[in-house]
Amino acid sequence: MTRFFRFGLVRATGILLAAAFPALSQETPALNQPAPQALFELTCSQCHPLDLPRSQRMNKEEWKSLVERMRSNGCVMTDQDAATIVEYLSKEYGR
Ligand code: HEC
Repeated sequence: MTRFFRFGLVRATGILLAAAFPALSQETPALNQPAPQALFELTCSQCHPLDLPRSQRMNKEEWKSLVERMRSNGCVMTDQDAATIVEYLSKEYGR
């Protein structure tokens, strides 16, 4: 009986909060984007160890052409993902 009551209370509070702050229950597009590092690790670890890119130091143009080369090697990613990865790499592994 007591358990049921507490459960009901918690639920009711949640519903009240959702009603009071509708923005909280809405998805924020920016937060749905994978973090650049996670995207890089996921995309670039499929064929070889990440040490390969991590041991390189290149400027943005060079990373860009490398990422394009990985595409022709068979790496599948959207243009937006490629741009995010190039941005990440030239910041973390730039020169
Ligand atoms: C479909 C498989 C595949 C994926 C996915 C892939 N690569 Fe590669 N990568 C290769 C192959 C094959 C080579 C060796 C041939 C070459 O250098 O082009 C290579 C070589 C490399 C090298 C060494 C190049 C050199 O000149 O020493 C780097 C750095 C690299 N990849 C970075 C990346 C990055 C960054 C990503 C993610 C955007 C990535 N790779 C994703 C297949 C892949």
